[in-house]
Amino acid sequence: MTDLLDSGERLERAELEALQLERLRATLRHAYENVGFYRQSFDKAGLHPDDCRSLADLARFPFTVKTDLRDHYPFGMFAVDQSEIRRIHASSGTTGRPTVVGYTGRDLDTWADVVARSIRAAGGRPGHKVHVAYGYGLFTGGLGAHYGAERLGCTVIPASGGMTARQVQLIQDFRPEIIMVTPSYMLTLLDEFERQGVDPRTTSLKVGIFGAEPWTEAMRREIEERFAIDAVDIYGLSEVMGPGVAQECVETKDGLHIWEDHFYPEIVDPFTGEVLPDGEEGELVFTSLTKEAMPVIRYRTRDLTRLLPGTARVFRRMEKVTGRSDDMVILRGVNLFPTQIEEIVLRTPAVAPHFQLRLTREGRLDALTVRAEARPDATPDQRAEAARAIAQSVKDGIGVSVTVEVVDPETLERSVGKIKRIVDLRGER
Ligand code: DLL
Repeated sequence: MTDLLDSGERLERAELEALQLERLRATLRHAYENVGFYRQSFDKAGLHPDDCRSLADLARFPFTVKTDLRDHYPFGMFAVDQSEIRRIHASSGTTGRPTVVGYTGRDLDTWADVVARSIRAAGGRPGHKVHVAYGYGLFTGGLGAHYGAERLGCTVIPASGGMTARQVQLIQDFRPEIIMVTPSYMLTLLDEFERQGVDPRTTSLKVGIFGAEPWTEAMRREIEERFAIDAVDIYGLSEVMGPGVAQECVETKDGLHIWEDHFYPEIVDPFTGEVLPDGEEGELVFTSLTKEAMPVIRYRTRDLTRLLPGTARVFRRMEKVTGRSDDMVILRGVNLFPTQIEEIVLRTPAVAPHFQLRLTREGRLDALTVRAEARPDATPDQRAEAARAIAQSVKDGIGVSVTVEVVDPETLERSVGKIKRIVDLRGER
């Protein structure tokens, strides 16, 4: 395995940290000199890039948040002339203006390198066929995966999202070893395999590289079992690059190694912004170390996780993301994440791995209904028992009462990309 590692992956920890500091200082200077927003925010904090003399000094610099990017829509965060920008991506968000990101030719090269590294860590090798079912377009998933797979020397099948019946046929006919897709869309594909009478365990697929949304160990077991593949996690966000910021290694499946030679992570207390030591859970913050077109300094991802020491690689790991702070539901003072419900639904017999959370308001209190889909063969008694068991597990494990409805098979909307778990009906009468 080690003979396959690239030069960044072969660094010793001390060499890595020296490289990070050099790159960090250059990035701070680049941002300060070329982006009005950073110049103003550093000046306001009374800081100059030269004040960063150690990696720990980064904590003195101000954060960047999503609204900063929106306020400079569309190109105000770019640090190079527009003629140097080779590509634009954007994330739609739920409301208002999209967040726009840009890449120079060298940035696209770096991105392809980190995704190639990610696919290799997942078990991909030159010559493998990679079915990319992340959406192509302004979303970074499709094109990000695509160029990384090509860079590794794989054959790419650019399926994009949707047209599920055709995806199944392509997988049958082209016989890819690897699939890159959101975990929720993989479940949609699972249904389609079964509908077409094809045993999903008999496909050519060996590895699935799943990301773009939170998913749990229970979901990993479900997908691995149903498809007879290895399922590994890929993380990223457009503001920082796209997919390929961090990747789980197939040999350990113990969280995602952050490609720390390009992206510097910190964990902060989501309320106070204070930097937390490795091992403690908080909000993940990233500073880009090599980006030209759009450097980001201390970008707050809103993703909750913790940092752990490296295992299969020198780089530190992040634990599987628990959820985004935006997706946290507060019910009568108790915090709840959709991933916690996923764990419970997936271990409940008689229900399928499809669920939705409905938030409503009853008087002055918020209420949550978990809607889980019955497996096709479940009897009415088993369905009732499943509803009771889920409600009990939520009460015991999370500490709050919810209503559970076990609905008929094939009634909940299926994902074609990122799934929306929470349906918020609180504003409606
Ligand atoms: O989702 C990039 C991506 C594409 C990652 C394909 C992996 C695979 P955005 O649309 O900007 O970019 O959304 C980024 O998605 O802040 C997380 O909240 C969530 N996310 C991404 N990967 C994971 C993951 C892409 N593995 C946002 N686990 C991030 C949990 C994830 N959440």
